[in-house]
This record gives sequence, structure tokens and C-alpha cells, in this order.
Amino acid sequence: MRNISQGYRAAATAKAVKAAGIEVKAVAGHIGAEITGVDLADDLDDAVVAAIRAALLRWKVVFFREQRLDHAGHVAFARRFGSPVVLPRRGSVSPPDVPEVETTADRLELPGRYGMESSEWLHRRNHTLLRRWHSDKSNHLDPPAGTILRAETVPPYGGDTTWSSLVAAYEGLSMPVRAFVDGLRAEHRLGVGYQPRPGDDAYVRHLLEHQVATAHPLVRVHPDTKERLLFINGYYVEQIIGLSRQESQAIVDMLLEQAVRPEYTVRFRWDSGSVAFWDNRATIHLAPRDTSHLDFPRIMHRVILAGEVPVGPDGKPSESLTGSEPGRW
Ligand SMILES: [Fe+2]
Repeated sequence: MRNISQGYRAAATAKAVKAAGIEVKAVAGHIGAEITGVDLADDLDDAVVAAIRAALLRWKVVFFREQRLDHAGHVAFARRFGSPVVLPRRGSVSPPDVPEVETTADRLELPGRYGMESSEWLHRRNHTLLRRWHSDKSNHLDPPAGTILRAETVPPYGGDTTWSSLVAAYEGLSMPVRAFVDGLRAEHRLGVGYQPRPGDDAYVRHLLEHQVATAHPLVRVHPDTKERLLFINGYYVEQIIGLSRQESQAIVDMLLEQAVRPEYTVRFRWDSGSVAFWDNRATIHLAPRDTSHLDFPRIMHRVILAGEVPVGPDGKPSESLTGSEPGRW
């Protein structure tokens, strides 16, 4: 059932798209649209930027195919939509001369950084299916507003990414549960579900020394669309503040199941040259694991856009618990 604001948004998107001469085709019922008729490496007109932005706000993640962006072009495109974040610490695979671009294969270096083989690292971080869903860096006080991920080399088959709409998830809750979660806050932190090594564990030391944790509203009001959304993900959230651990576990599991119901999701098949641009405030995503046993190279580059401090329905902003301050990465 469409409500008035959805009807208005659809009309606004259609108007912007018509003005820009691009085509936006929805991929799934609640989330995801593919945009054609635009070369992201061009110097884009303001009307095209406005149409992409309108489609992003309406569909939460937008896809482009057969693009020819290089690192500089990727950053230039991102700048039309916000401020690319310069991460202080990237791995050796990321391009050293373009600090806004992070190459995701960097993460293969993480186990070695903590003195582990990859298999042990995966075993200790062996998140349940629900806990692998995340929004990027939601443990920060001002999590990224958006992420633009570009595929350079992808497996010949498999390796799809899935996103879910947290707005649809919130709107799908019953009214009494909405009223209950509207007033709650949750702790977002690094290392949820990690199984420490007996004795010395370099990752546990890292967590103690460099923990970044924030109390965010469990229901967030989107700064642009003013939609309410269920601001939760399994990767960073274990504890709802003020509840017992037992209560928290049951409610977090229930809300995570709600957040990833298949009807709220969209799945994207990558090709070399594909670009996905998602609203990191209104979505969570699941990275693929189906080809990890096949040894295919997968080289993806991402640029994240700076975000704002979330605000709940009561108008109150998130609060840092430890190590988090605006603009600190
Ligand atoms: Fe991610």
C-alpha cells in the first residue's frame, strides 16, 4: 500500500528524471533501481545529478552498468553528492595516490595484522547469517551517508550483493512494536560476536585500545526524506540500551529478522564496470560469500561519503560511547 509521502516521492523522482533524460527502472518492490543513459565519467549536468539523487532517495540503492570510471573519476562523481571520506588507515592494495578510494581486497590483509591465518580469523569472526548484515561503519557517531562501490574484476559467476530497506522494515512493523522501538537506543560497536583466542589476542587488544562505539536511536529519522527507519544491523549491534542481555538478544534477533525479510531486499549481479550507489543511512547490505571457496579474483573499489549524526523521533541525536567524534575516522 502506497502512502501519501511515497506517492509524492515517486512524482518528484519522475519529474527529476524526465528533466535529466536518464532512465530509472525499479528492480524490486521496495528497494533498488537501475539507471541507464548516463556516463558517470562525464562532467554531469546538475539536472542529472539531481535525478540520480532523487532516485537514490526513492530507491535506496541505484545501479549503473558498463561504466568506465577510474579512481579519479570515481572520486569526482562522489563529490557531486557529498564529501568523500579520507580513511586514515588503508591496506596495501588501495591506490596510494587517491586517498578517498579504498580497495576492498585490503581486508584480506586483516588476519595477518592480528597474527592469524585467514581460516582462524574467519572462524573467530564467524558471524551468524543475520550478523553479517551491516551498514558501513555504523559504530561511528556520524556514519557514512552513502557508499559508491565500483567493480573492476568480478567472478565469472556468483558474488552478488544484497541490500535491504530499513524504511520498508520499519513500516512493516505493527503499530505497537513501532511505538515500542521508537523510544529505544542501541549500542553500535566493533567486534560484536568475536570469539577471542585463549590468552593473548591481538584483535582483542585492538578492540580495547581502539574501540569506536556509539549509542544511536533504534529508529532514525532520515535527514532528507524524513522517513522513519529501523536503524539496526547485526554486525555492530548486540545490545539495546536499558534492556537486559536476555531481553536485548530476543528483540535484536526479532528486529534483524524483520530487517532482512526477502520482500524488503534487492540482489545485484556484478559485472566489470558495474557501480552501486547506496544510501548507507536507509539500508543494510550483505557481502557475498558464495565464491570464497573458488579462488576467483574480486577487485572492488569504494568511496564513502561523510554523513551526519543520526536523530531519533524524539529529536535527540546519537551520543558517543567511546572513541567516536564527528569527522574522526
Ligand atoms: Fe559494507
